[in-house]
Amino acid sequence: MDIYNVIHNRRSIRKYKPDPIPKEKIIKILEAARVAPSWANKQCWRFVLVEEETRKEKLAAALPEGNPATRAILQAPLVVVLCADPRASGRVNGKEYYLLDAGLAMQQLVLAAWAEGLGTCWVAWTDEDGIRKACNIPGEYRVVALTPVGIPAKEPKPIPRKNLSEIAFKEMWGNSFTA
Ligand SMILES: Cc1cc2nc3c(=O)[nH]c(=O)nc-3n(C[C@H](O)[C@H](O)[C@H](O)COP(=O)(O)O)c2cc1C
Repeated sequence: MDIYNVIHNRRSIRKYKPDPIPKEKIIKILEAARVAPSWANKQCWRFVLVEEETRKEKLAAALPEGNPATRAILQAPLVVVLCADPRASGRVNGKEYYLLDAGLAMQQLVLAAWAEGLGTCWVAWTDEDGIRKACNIPGEYRVVALTPVGIPAKEPKPIPRKNLSEIAFKEMWGNSFTA
């Protein structure tokens, strides 16, 4: 699938079919994450793959009430938990680059999944300790986010984005870049 097609058509998926994901596809999407860029190539990320129902229930229980992705965590055949070690990345002027490293790897997984016909949904509004306990994640790693992975149950509708003129400036802040 063309990369622009993947980028433009990807949506967050919160309803899944129960069909299991073939191992080859799981490896493909993990490989896409594995080759992501990172601070000094430190690759501070780690992924925990959860398929057991009881563990998915623990993950779902660690989402605050009202998180719209809760049902998706239970429905999807696979949940990927994204962790990162802040000590294995940079910190400049209070900016923690482990979040960027981990986010880049996860987004590569997300896009690769879409190219494979699989939906995902970034889920970062969680009780970190609950996720940590469910998967025995060591204390030096932060839980950054998780995502369900599975075949979308229905075709998602496009949702709006800001126009380029609102987000891109020419030379000086405030001078709208127009296409
Ligand atoms: C860092 C991050 C955290 C997010 N956390 C959640 C979450 O906890 N629960 C949820 O349902 N969606 C979550 N989302 C998904 C966003 O709501 C979604 O990406 C946004 O509404 C745009 O929709 P789209 O992904 O379909 O384009 C998160 C997205 C990002 C990038």
